[in-house]
Amino acid sequence: MTSVDINLYLVGFMGTGKSTVGRLVARQLGFKFLDSDHEIERAQGRPVGKIFAEDGETKFRALEREFAEHGHPALQCVVACGGGLVVPPGMLELLRSRGVVMCLHAPIDTIIRRTMHTTHRPLLQVENPEQRLRELYAQREEIYRRTGTIVLTDSRPLREIAAHVLRVYRLETAHLKK
Ligand code: S3P
Repeated sequence: MTSVDINLYLVGFMGTGKSTVGRLVARQLGFKFLDSDHEIERAQGRPVGKIFAEDGETKFRALEREFAEHGHPALQCVVACGGGLVVPPGMLELLRSRGVVMCLHAPIDTIIRRTMHTTHRPLLQVENPEQRLRELYAQREEIYRRTGTIVLTDSRPLREIAAHVLRVYRLETAHLKK
């Protein structure tokens, strides 16, 4: 193993395709694929919805921080990060200190179409999920923008998106090659 095998973190809003893209990129890199929500659920023995309901969002954000700090291997992982993981102050810097960070992006209308009727996202279990999505999207846009590399995932074949992500990962890690 060389130091070029640093982790790749995919961040971005719900419904931008982080898990689908991440799984494919991980396979192509020969890395392990991790989804922060699933890792937290496994460690907690309960789904994200239950964590929100029983302990609140603040607790969930603390669990996300714990996962990012020491809940996963330091090398050879592609990590699909829950949409809000990168939002609290210091989280983007934390991910950057551990690997390459890329943000997947899709227009709000695509996100609404993909997520509005899903039931596993506690933030959307409200009377008007569309309005909630628009509010969150507006609040977070600036944070996602700060990640640097933004990859558009709308109206593009999956293999093209994965190829783009791979190319950027290789470029950003080229200087680490031994
Ligand atoms: C959240 C996104 C979800 C999950 C939780 C909160 C958010 O992950 O972590 O429901 O705050 O945007 P996905 O981005 O995988 O849907």
